[in-house]
Amino acid sequence: MNKSIIIKTKRDVVDHLLSRRSRHPVLENVKASAPANIALCKYWGKRNAELNLPVTDSLSVSLGHLGSNISLSTGHVKDRVVLNGQELTPTDPFLVRTLNFVNLFRENQDALHVEAHNTIPTAAGFASSASGFAALVLALDQLYQWNLDQRSLSILARLGSGSACRSVFEGLVIWHSGTSDAGMDSYAEPLDQQWPELRVGLVVLSVEQKHIGSRAAMQHTVETSPLYEAWPSTVERDMNEIQDAIANKSVSGVGRIAERNALTMHATMMASDPPVIYWSPDSLRAIHRVWNARDEGLDVFFTMDAGPNVKLLYEAHKQEHILKFFPELVTTDR
Ligand code: DP6
Repeated sequence: MNKSIIIKTKRDVVDHLLSRRSRHPVLENVKASAPANIALCKYWGKRNAELNLPVTDSLSVSLGHLGSNISLSTGHVKDRVVLNGQELTPTDPFLVRTLNFVNLFRENQDALHVEAHNTIPTAAGFASSASGFAALVLALDQLYQWNLDQRSLSILARLGSGSACRSVFEGLVIWHSGTSDAGMDSYAEPLDQQWPELRVGLVVLSVEQKHIGSRAAMQHTVETSPLYEAWPSTVERDMNEIQDAIANKSVSGVGRIAERNALTMHATMMASDPPVIYWSPDSLRAIHRVWNARDEGLDVFFTMDAGPNVKLLYEAHKQEHILKFFPELVTTDR
């Protein structure tokens, strides 16, 4: 990177990555999709909030067909955003966030119609913003015919939502935190080692909007939790060990590390002032059901994000058996 370029804002990142590329739509209609992703080793805390630069690396698995589909079309007189078949009002937070993002890229405010369809419950801790921003970046890349490389696409998706940089890819994905102020070294990429038999199942306990979004909760944890200072070294240990467990295809290794990583993240946010508690009584019941199933010899593990729902980790050949313990499980093709 040219050292004389100073990158401080999202717009600076966009201008840098698109310096020789069109800012006018080339196509009229495009479609793109991206999978949701579930972190096995979490991203919780930023070193730069404007650019969504994380304090630590993180590692996730994408959810196959569950995610977001985005259609974009140009040639209209005014912007329009439709989410899951419903046209949004100009003050709707999803519309505002989407158009603010799109405005980073368009120069002459060509009106745009955005149609987003999430195949995963929105804002219930199922990471629809990650797949949404990843799909949006992939769609914009087509609309403007930028032909960006995957690293640049991941960096642009990160500007929408940190975890979106991982949703640009399928399978097991690592997000390198990077160390530079501009964040050009903070991007995701697929792990060399893939493991299609590793499955994620969803225990949907609530589809209600969460009381505090992950962005605000993360910031609040960094600022007020006395436990946060232990988080970076915890993640460093977990990232090392989980990659070894993945290389060995050890589901119990991966599962135990994912569980303790999620529990440490939640413990850290619970120690914030005031506390952040995403769990419901049903979440704790589901955790105990996982541990009971394990006591009976089944290799099943859990992780949780910024919401009350619980995600199970197991190997594909155990799915029938898992469904006996969790008949309500939403299975994924991954
Ligand atoms: C608990 O990526 O939604 O799911 O960067 O502020 O948009 P922003 O946060 P976001 O946070 C995700 C947090 C998490 C853990 C993870 O996915 O790694």
